[in-house]
Amino acid sequence: TPEKEPLKPGDILVYAQGGGEPKPIRLEELKPGDPFVLAYPMDPKTKVVKSGEAKNTVLVARYLPEELSPEVAQHAIEGAVAYSAVCTHLGCIISQWVAEKKAGLCPCHGGVYDLAHGAKVVAGPPPRPVPQLPLKVEDGVLVAAGEFLGEVGVKAESGFCRHV
Ligand code: FES
Repeated sequence: TPEKEPLKPGDILVYAQGGGEPKPIRLEELKPGDPFVLAYPMDPKTKVVKSGEAKNTVLVARYLPEELSPEVAQHAIEGAVAYSAVCTHLGCIISQWVAEKKAGLCPCHGGVYDLAHGAKVVAGPPPRPVPQLPLKVEDGVLVAAGEFLGEVGVKAESGFCRHV
């Protein structure tokens, strides 16, 4: 089904919450330091929101541009950054904001990701950062400027014991 199609470059990011018409995320609606918002990609032509696949869940946060590490800033737009919201530990959705650290929290086992610094894991069991999603702005609205810069979710081999 089209709702399960993978995210593609050019997809518009829309707010994950709230029924009714999909609402594209406008850059001006995001304030540095505010909690991140969860989003789904929307096909710009068909207007189908690809919410049928958990791996399409994206989180979008905004920082002051100078708060971002240079590698992160390369794929950010005016301080706005996006990442996969699928925790690399066991695949829960990173859904909470840790205001004092300006970080994202996975409530399942307490994984904390520093979103200004490449989603570096600063607490809890996740084995690796969540991949960043390059952003651009078109007509004031956030758009995916590329694919995720790494594998989304739990790495397939991580569940197997390799040393026999
Ligand atoms: Fe996210 Fe375990 S699934 S910390």
